[in-house]
Amino acid sequence: MKLAILSRAPRSYSTQRLRTAAESRGHRVRVLNTLRFAIDLTGDEPDLQFRGRPISDYDAILPRIGNSITYFGTAVVRQFEQMDVYTPNTANGIANARDKLRAIQILSRHNIGMPATTFARNRADVLPAIQRVGGAPVVIKLLEGTQGIGVILAPNTKVAEAIIETLQSTRQNVLIQRFVAESRGRDIRALVVGDRVVAAMRRVAQGDEFRSNVHRGGRVEAIDLPRSFEETAVRAAQIMGLRFAGVDMLESDDGPLVMEVNSSPGLEGIETATQLDIAGAIIDYIDNQVAFPEIDVRQRLTVSTGYGVAELVVHDGAELVGKTIAESGLRERDITVLTLNRGTTVIPNPNLSRTLEASDRLLCFGRLEEMRSMIPARRRRRARVKQLPDDPIRRADDVSP
Ligand SMILES: Nc1ncnc2c1ncn2[C@@H]1O[C@H](COP(=O)(O)OP(=O)(O)O)[C@@H](O)[C@H]1O
Ligand SMILES: [Mg+2]
Repeated sequence: MKLAILSRAPRSYSTQRLRTAAESRGHRVRVLNTLRFAIDLTGDEPDLQFRGRPISDYDAILPRIGNSITYFGTAVVRQFEQMDVYTPNTANGIANARDKLRAIQILSRHNIGMPATTFARNRADVLPAIQRVGGAPVVIKLLEGTQGIGVILAPNTKVAEAIIETLQSTRQNVLIQRFVAESRGRDIRALVVGDRVVAAMRRVAQGDEFRSNVHRGGRVEAIDLPRSFEETAVRAAQIMGLRFAGVDMLESDDGPLVMEVNSSPGLEGIETATQLDIAGAIIDYIDNQVAFPEIDVRQRLTVSTGYGVAELVVHDGAELVGKTIAESGLRERDITVLTLNRGTTVIPNPNLSRTLEASDRLLCFGRLEEMRSMIPARRRRRARVKQLPDDPIRRADDVSP
């Protein structure tokens, strides 16, 4: 294949290793400075220029987008996606992972363990927020920090409030997180490639430091990753839309707690700690996936008018419970079940003979009109306001004197 590594650090350990791994497997590879692309939307087809010239055809890209260029970098990756070039990490995945709050928001509805986290803006809401995560000591984080910079442990509420106020006064957004004391300055980095963990290490903070980042002096050691950590890491990466990711987890009394998912994980620490050829694993994975560029399924499936994708939930006591998909009548209503979600397992292309159970979630493609009638009324968290009358303006006129 012909591969482009998007990186501004051609001489860094990670880029060098990726390039060598690709070359030694007989692939053609180039390292291209992300900032030298120009996104070209002038012609009929989406295009890209590199250093002022049209780029040649690539089969795949491997984006290594640094924090300081997220906006431009993800725009370049998105452009490659529009051109049907395969990328293990999508622009959306990279952008979502980059923002610690956004990442946690996305993960939070999927049963992934995370440290209790809150986000508040107004001064009056900060103290209740600190209390909600269990009170001081608390961890305060800048939304887009890396390498441990912007992660602060506040020993008491007064200091926490002062730090938050100071950061907010310089227009920085911060989140407040329970301090997972039992992890004792240690965390686990699992490297996910595709749907498996290819390597894992534990990082141990030095001295009285609580941050275990290698850039903060953390020591690394290889570990045998417990199954629960492996599953959590793979699911977290998948939910974020990243096929190559470094998932950071704390070892809490309640099992793995995901802190963040890195879309451009460094290779030096983990290859040194494990002596494994991780660069080779990611190159082989890309080589296998090249034929399947990411496509925006929802967008493409909704192009035919009246058709679309929806999630139908099988409610307890509903007619569908106990019926097979064939008996469910969905097919007759022009609805195809694409995947069946049961708890945390996903059954792709479920067999027609599969029996539906309460709480199953069916991802379906079909006529929106048919599916609308099957989607239950939205759960309301508060009493509803009064419905608008059919013709609110006329009614309002009627009651005026
Ligand atoms: N809630 C927490 N409880 C205990 N330690 C934490 C917590 N959050 C972060 N840490 C420590 O701080 C380090 C850096 O935090 P992280 O959220 O990964 O930020 P960064 O993007 O800067 O690496 C982690 O590797 C971990 O050792
Ligand atoms: Mg980290």
